[in-house]
Amino acid sequence: MTGRAVVVGVGHYLPERVVPNSHFEATLDTTDEWIQSRSGIQRRHFAAEDETTSDLAAHAARAALADAGLQAGDIDAIVLATSTADLTFPSAATMVQAALGMDKGFAFDVQAVCAGFVYALSTANAMILAGQAKRVLVIGAETFSRIMDWTDRSTCVLFGDGAGALVLESQTGAGTSADRGILSTDLNSDGRYKDLLYVDGGVSTQTTGHLRMQGNQVFRHAVEKLASTAETALDKAGLSANDVDWIVPHQANIRIISGTARKMGLSMDHVVVTVQDHGNTSAASIPLALSVGKQRGQINSGDLIVTEAIGGGLAWGAVVLRW
Ligand code: UT7
Repeated sequence: MTGRAVVVGVGHYLPERVVPNSHFEATLDTTDEWIQSRSGIQRRHFAAEDETTSDLAAHAARAALADAGLQAGDIDAIVLATSTADLTFPSAATMVQAALGMDKGFAFDVQAVCAGFVYALSTANAMILAGQAKRVLVIGAETFSRIMDWTDRSTCVLFGDGAGALVLESQTGAGTSADRGILSTDLNSDGRYKDLLYVDGGVSTQTTGHLRMQGNQVFRHAVEKLASTAETALDKAGLSANDVDWIVPHQANIRIISGTARKMGLSMDHVVVTVQDHGNTSAASIPLALSVGKQRGQINSGDLIVTEAIGGGLAWGAVVLRW
């Protein structure tokens, strides 16, 4: 018998405003055709001016709690992955805690950019296995529209806003890979690549800054590192790609998503894809895809899922879980 962190609820929230690729044709030297063929993105959502990351996160958290049939008071902790928190401090997680009316437990943010949700899941899993919490809300939420340089066509057409959330619950498993819950995690970073994807501002530089990316360089790292971390995580769980029902990847680029699946020897029939509708929502993209994948009827109880993500740092990783 062994402890397992099992997903008992999932939900998401997307801001109302949908922005199609054609929106950018008016102000930039770009086309819907270029954006779709290079990235797979057709549209994305942008938060309203008065909507913040913690607002999106609280909506997603409420949806996940409803899906789990739980109340905020049943939750011991909130781990929120974001790089676009409302304020420098306190954490967006404590703002969600207040919005949900939670007056106990603890809440904090995790910042690993696009790999943030994988890092947050891994952190929550470790806390559950250590007995520090029984039920954890794990949220990915971003408003990347706030850090775009609208004159830079190579980045501003790629990102969107949104939030997704899971409720993880401590349960007892048999200790085999047939157990429901998180079966393994694999985290990596390599700060030598910090200049490939970053925001050129922050508190210590007294500016907000904008996202800067050498897209083709990040692309080169992505497929190899994502396939490798997914395979390492599967190996740690005593499983292989043949056992996978669904890859739920970070949704940055359809060519990265399909290249990673191909490298793992899996067809696109085993991949949940939402990049066409959401763009790259950084730490929100995996929980958004999990929630949409469940709504579509793709993801069902007992399915073996591998999530993988890479982003600024570079930071990357994978989580293997049975739904
Ligand atoms: O989530 C965090 C991790 N991030 C990623 O995973 C993103 C990884 N990178 C990518 O997804 C791709 O590299 C991009 C979609 C960003 C770009 O695709 P690419 O095939 O790597 O294109 P590129 O950067 O090599 O640019 C090719 C050309 C360039 O023109 P020249 O120099 O060949 O004349 C760019 O200036 O495309 C041009 N270009 C554009 N053209 C029209 C760049 N952005 C645009 C645009 N519209 N929006």
